[in-house]
Amino acid sequence: MTKAILIVAAERGLGLGLAKQFFDRGWTVVGTSRSGADTDELRRVGEADPDRLAITNVDVTSADQIPSFLESLGDRRFDVIFMNAGIWGAPHQSVLEATDEEFAEIMLTNTFGPVRLARRLLGTLVPDGTLAFMSSHRGSITINLEGGLELYRASKVATNMLARGIYAENRKSNLTVLCIHPGWVSTAMGTLNGTVNAEIELEPSVRGIADVVEIHMSSGENLYLDYRDERLDW
Ligand SMILES: NC(=O)c1ccc[n+]([C@@H]2O[C@H](COP(=O)([O-])OP(=O)(O)OC[C@H]3O[C@@H](n4cnc5c(N)ncnc54)[C@H](OP(=O)(O)O)[C@@H]3O)[C@@H](O)[C@H]2O)c1
Repeated sequence: MTKAILIVAAERGLGLGLAKQFFDRGWTVVGTSRSGADTDELRRVGEADPDRLAITNVDVTSADQIPSFLESLGDRRFDVIFMNAGIWGAPHQSVLEATDEEFAEIMLTNTFGPVRLARRLLGTLVPDGTLAFMSSHRGSITINLEGGLELYRASKVATNMLARGIYAENRKSNLTVLCIHPGWVSTAMGTLNGTVNAEIELEPSVRGIADVVEIHMSSGENLYLDYRDERLDW
């Protein structure tokens, strides 16, 4: 049977690349954007078989949008839900410089919003389903030997921890939870809007991530992996 994936934030960057990967591998893809975003490229992903691509809207920071978003999914069930939405946050990335609003914004967008939404979406997963979060190697405590990037690191390490909580509470139902580092990828975020060079292009990252998902889905594990299927230390 065709497998189905929900990708939250799929209209540009890594999310769009993942939508293409999974669609080309024969999956049914439901991708989200924020209301009003340009979804032309995402729509084009499904041109070869429009029945396998659907687009809906949600802003992960909005609790108010959750009921209508769940309703838009109807009775769809997903083998994988991929929480991809994220921001880089204030350019200074410094706890000393950050305003309360800057810290709140990155935690709400990268952590609290996606985790809250993921918890509300658990009922749309098939038995033995898989929940994936777009994490980052910046979310590892062990490999942070140089400091800096405090706001972004705080948001991703907290995402990893709250993802573990979802896993721990749902082990009996054999939930798989993956926290994935995509590499340093040449997207708007990865290039800081074209001002720096990233390490890798989009295609090898999303191809690797799709491989990682296909390898570990339904394993019943909670893993922190990069796009090459290498394990990261938490
Ligand atoms: N690129 C890298 O090197 C890298 C490395 C490690 C981890 N990551 C992670 O990978 C994920 C995707 O990043 P990217 O590189 O593809 O960045 P990107 O090109 O800037 O795309 C970010 C995506 O997140 C969406 N988004 C932002 N705020 C949102 C919100 N409140 N509600 C719903 N969607 C929202 C954006 O939607 P809009 O178009 O509406 O803004 C866009 O679809 C992020 O979680 C990021 O932290 C990226």
